[in-house]
Amino acid sequence: PIVKELFGLSDLEDEVRSAFGLKRVIIVPGDSDETEHVKLELGRAGSRVLRDSLSVGDVVAVMGGSTMAHMARHFAAASQFKDNWFVPARGGLGESVDYQANTIASQLAKRAGARYRMLHVPDHLSEEAYQTIMQEPNVREVVDMIRSARIVVHGIGDAATMARRRKLRDDTMDELVKDGALAEAFGYYFDRSGKVVHRMATAGLRLEDIEAAELVIGIAGGRSKGEAIASVMRFGHDDVLVTDEAAAREALRHI
Ligand code: BG6
Repeated sequence: PIVKELFGLSDLEDEVRSAFGLKRVIIVPGDSDETEHVKLELGRAGSRVLRDSLSVGDVVAVMGGSTMAHMARHFAAASQFKDNWFVPARGGLGESVDYQANTIASQLAKRAGARYRMLHVPDHLSEEAYQTIMQEPNVREVVDMIRSARIVVHGIGDAATMARRRKLRDDTMDELVKDGALAEAFGYYFDRSGKVVHRMATAGLRLEDIEAAELVIGIAGGRSKGEAIASVMRFGHDDVLVTDEAAAREALRHI
């Protein structure tokens, strides 16, 4: 708290909280774009928020990404969470293994001494294959669990960066640009006003499940993500935002 006062970050937290109508905002000093250490602190702050929010038996759905990976790595080892479940919020999504939601969910569960389930649904399924796979009792069971999550934790990306990272086809890229996609979170792409303009086809959490979740925690930092963060916050279903100083200031420029 003393450090935060020195840097004036608690005022900034209040400002961001009221600008986007959030319940809680946590800001770490610095800019994750410039220093890896700031991203690590962001992950650590995120893991603390999650830890403090967990109650016995909670199902937590987590997304992927490098920020979430830091969060999982810094979740302080524990033993009181053995009746909690960590599940990936969505399957596939074309990320490298380290960044996949499945990986993050299992790492978190191991750190927390909790349980986890995996969702093995590849990307780019035909509608027919998707319907068939969804009828598999194993898959169905995990999907139902994901959709019942009380807590959702996710990263936020800049739309163009995420589209490139996921190697979206050129025509899809063009469409995203045309539709004004600025941000990406949980496989959905959002425009400036927070409206969903595109979604990636994969099983798991749907928008209505995010709306129904009791606690949605977004973790993202770096000046380059400021505008994307503002657009996802405008979507309006996050309760808590964990970010860094540079992203917070940039997000406020886009309200
Ligand atoms: C992805 C999530 O894995 O990570 C996205 O599916 C998120 O929702 C993205 O936008 C953020 O990644 P990073 O590496 O910038 O934390």
